[in-house]
Amino acid sequence: MRQPLIAGNWKLNGTRNSVVELASEISAGAASLPVEVLVCPVVVHLADVLAVVGNSPVHLGAQNCSEARTGAYTGEVSADMLQEFGCEYVILGHSERRALYHETSEQIAQKCLSVQQAGMTPVLCVGETLEEREAGQVEAVIAAQLDAMLEAGGVDAFRQMVVAYEPVWAIGTGKTASPEEAQAVHAMIRQKISSQNADIASALRILYGGSVKADNAASLFGQADIDGGLVGGAALDATSFLAICEAAASTVEKTAS
Ligand code: 13P
Repeated sequence: MRQPLIAGNWKLNGTRNSVVELASEISAGAASLPVEVLVCPVVVHLADVLAVVGNSPVHLGAQNCSEARTGAYTGEVSADMLQEFGCEYVILGHSERRALYHETSEQIAQKCLSVQQAGMTPVLCVGETLEEREAGQVEAVIAAQLDAMLEAGGVDAFRQMVVAYEPVWAIGTGKTASPEEAQAVHAMIRQKISSQNADIASALRILYGGSVKADNAASLFGQADIDGGLVGGAALDATSFLAICEAAASTVEKTAS
């Protein structure tokens, strides 16, 4: 049984005060839920958020890191540094990083390895643009994104990893992939890993991201290969985020009963 993971990607939002308030509300509300909850603030807010979530079941993650571990890389933050600040996860390969900062799949794979070497878990994001979907390239695009990771680290790299399927056209647009559309891609991702190692594939958590909201979460999380969500906008509001966590919890309770 894969435990659902609900991750909040706070992107470039918040102040020291507002993130502490958000983290406090989430910690209080998430304490009793049978799902794993993760919050990912900007790097300068990590210490403030850790002070709030450190003694709660809520986990802390970052939104990016350098592939380099140390050295002359002005402006970068390494995986070891994030680990020292209490991070357990790092989101890597988000489509905003791929599109706006020209990160390649090969570079993202190196970042994932660096995060694993520091003892943390990468949340590797994959997903197609609308043009790619309309051209019938969904499978090829996602396979290529996964292949870069497989080439860099082998299938074993997926033992300590979360994959997030985030169709670019669904991010921040209010357009969500239908549960069936998302499930088809999640199944394809799991099948691809399974063709190399069935045990790793069946333990791998694959999150869906892209306009996940309280009112569509339960139908997405009810799909066989959707193991939780990577949530942007709705993660900035504690009530909405907790409702999404509760939707994931209700799927666990349904499976258990
Ligand atoms: P939205 O939930 O705002 O669409 O963002 C999704 C996302 O990019 C999470 O990483």
